[in-house]
Amino acid sequence: MYIVLAFVCLIGVTDQRILHRHDFSSLNDDDNTYFRGSNYIRLINTSMHATFEPSLYSTWMIETALGQMQSYGYNYVRVFLACPTYYAGFGLSSPGVPLNYTKNVIDFLVRAANHKILVMLTADFNPLNYQSIINSYPIPPNVTGGNVIIFHRGQVEAKAQFFRDLLSQIKAVNMSAFQNIFAIDIFNEIAVSVREQPFSLTSGLVPFEDILYDMANGNDRQRMLDIAGNIWMDTVVAAIKLVSPRILVTASLFSPNAVGHDGFDGVQVRPPDADDRYPLRPASLVQSLADYIDLHVYASENAQKELAGAALSSEKPILMGETGAYTGFFSNASIAALAIKKVIIDSFDYGFIGWSIWTWDSTDQQPRFWTLTEQNNTINNVLAPSVWPIGKLAKKLPIKF
Ligand SMILES: *[C@@H]1O[C@H](CO)[C@@H](O)[C@H](O)[C@H]1NC(C)=O
Ligand SMILES: *[C@@H]1O[C@H](CO)[C@@H](O)[C@H](O)[C@H]1NC(C)=O
Ligand SMILES: *[C@@H]1O[C@H](CO)[C@@H](O)[C@H](O)[C@H]1NC(C)=O
Ligand SMILES: *[C@@H]1O[C@H](CO)[C@@H](O)[C@H](O)[C@H]1NC(C)=O
Ligand SMILES: *[C@@H]1O[C@H](CO)[C@@H](O)[C@H](O)[C@H]1NC(C)=O
Ligand SMILES: *[C@@H]1O[C@H](CO)[C@@H](O)[C@H](O)[C@H]1NC(C)=O
Repeated sequence: MYIVLAFVCLIGVTDQRILHRHDFSSLNDDDNTYFRGSNYIRLINTSMHATFEPSLYSTWMIETALGQMQSYGYNYVRVFLACPTYYAGFGLSSPGVPLNYTKNVIDFLVRAANHKILVMLTADFNPLNYQSIINSYPIPPNVTGGNVIIFHRGQVEAKAQFFRDLLSQIKAVNMSAFQNIFAIDIFNEIAVSVREQPFSLTSGLVPFEDILYDMANGNDRQRMLDIAGNIWMDTVVAAIKLVSPRILVTASLFSPNAVGHDGFDGVQVRPPDADDRYPLRPASLVQSLADYIDLHVYASENAQKELAGAALSSEKPILMGETGAYTGFFSNASIAALAIKKVIIDSFDYGFIGWSIWTWDSTDQQPRFWTLTEQNNTINNVLAPSVWPIGKLAKKLPIKF
């Protein structure tokens, strides 16, 4: 889910034994090893992530939620690291992650472990106190706005250092918490903007890492994004693997067909009122050090086109870290449950090995999505692993690519 963010400074300024191996290759040996999760989010002001906000953390009903997830058979939970304090740089003037933030992440990890639920940590923008790292690298030419996230070496190195700092601290404080991190989504729904340079330029040559790309040529535009995206990914993956070779790493994506493109079309510009986002390409990311592909697909009439347009490749495992149903499209939670179920069933053809529903219980989000727990657990009572053990069903279906 794409949540609009404040406090962001961009510009250069279940079988637990098997799951715990964190090795996707062993998964399909067993009916119980599909990844079945939910997104646990806490928000303030209806749109700002705040699960780990230090002044609020202990007020959330996390223990109860994790206990219910366990009883419904879920084996993983996805949480967002961001919160106002995180974006503001934790009150620090230099890079680092203070224990008054990390202790809550550790608390969550330990509680989840006690309920046999693995945790996927999700990040997005860098905390403000990493700005000195960003500033120590030159801003690349012909790159503007949010496109610096992928194209500015400083942004890449800051993200790598953030994960080194966070993970080293979790590891030092509580090993069982550390071992319960099974995956990291380094940037929720990573995308570039076609309204910002270099992609807003439709002619001329733009350099990246000593190669010139012709902005009038779709193949060049896509290749430039593929190469930058893979350097970005490889740098952050390498940093995480140094602290833990076992943690699986990727950045979640959506389909180009979810934002008005028809497949990966060469990062083409869109009309001024259209969605300006363009995601990284799974068929490119499989060539990077990313361990798996995570594609978000929500229930809608467009869902099958989104799956087909995402250029998914069987070279690496594919997970659906978010699926869900917008209340504006589905009149009640029963209907929403069936619509989400259809997305999941449609995804079997592409070889998905896990699904995580948006959200567990966040009824204050705007726009509103049906939660698993509302209306007396209506969606849980259709989609939860204890009710609908997908493993057996998915295995019977032929996997086509
Ligand atoms: C939430 O909204 C209130 C009222 O508009 C505002 O005062 C407050 O600063 C906001 N909180 C954050 C963290 O943005
Ligand atoms: C957390 O710790 C940092 C570093 O010690 C400090 O600057 C900050 O004020 C603390 N924040 C809170 C909410 O206590
Ligand atoms: C780490 O978490 C475990 C629970 O799994 C707890 O028993 C232990 O006390 C924690 N250790 C520290 C150092 O906090
Ligand atoms: C890229 O930026 C340089 C320096 O600002 C400028 O001279 C050049 O014209 C830009 N290239 C394009 C294709 O706009
Ligand atoms: C949801 O809507 C359908 C169709 O209108 C209806 O048959 C069903 O009873 C409703 N379910 C609930 C829980 O309200
Ligand atoms: C909610 O569901 C439970 C279990 O299915 C059931 O026992 C209970 O009566 C339901 N509560 C309401 C208010 O419908």
